[in-house]
Amino acid sequence: MKFFVDTADIDAIRELNDLGMIDGVTTNPSLILKSGRDILEATKEICDLVDGPVSAEVVATDFDQMLKEGEHLAGIAENVCVKVPLTWAGLRVCKLLSDAGTQVNVTLCFSANQALLAAKAGASFISPFIGRLDDINVDGMDLIRDIREIYDNYDFKTEILAASIRTPNHMKEAALIGADVATAPPNVIQGMIKHPLTASGLDQFVKDAQQAGIKIV
Ligand code: E4P
Repeated sequence: MKFFVDTADIDAIRELNDLGMIDGVTTNPSLILKSGRDILEATKEICDLVDGPVSAEVVATDFDQMLKEGEHLAGIAENVCVKVPLTWAGLRVCKLLSDAGTQVNVTLCFSANQALLAAKAGASFISPFIGRLDDINVDGMDLIRDIREIYDNYDFKTEILAASIRTPNHMKEAALIGADVATAPPNVIQGMIKHPLTASGLDQFVKDAQQAGIKIV
């Protein structure tokens, strides 16, 4: 499973990228707002840093303006992936940009039927939002499972990008189901390392090494 980091925080992206931990980046208008950056500058900087796809989201909701924005974002760098909402206008833009060779991430997906439409429109990625479904008491992982089955039934090439991931357990479940990609905030990716037995085991080894006077170099 590929990991994308869901942030516009350049330091956090750099740290994970240097570790070889991420295969791409996703942003959205809320993350751009949080970063206090200009979307075009931030997207360019992230694209220069990371080799994989960098999702940058349009803000218009009507077709003409959305297409203009998508084309402009696509011109920032080769690895820009234009993010469009799962609306009819978004799917029209998806089809045109995909046909022109631009990667498109269709976002705000909350149903298998929406994912089916995005695949038909040639999306490179579909972003089902797990956490936001969990928030309303619907199991977000059931949606990932349904989309996986449908895409496999028909050999759709659209990659399932599990989004709105809130916990390390979400990462594990998405991986078990076979999501192609998971995008998560830096703290969730870093949180995957935590295990109390690792921490307590290391404490004991450090104490025993001191008691034994072990010195390696
Ligand atoms: C993904 O592309 C979205 O930006 C993101 O995962 C949304 O997550 P949230 O529901 O935690 O805001």
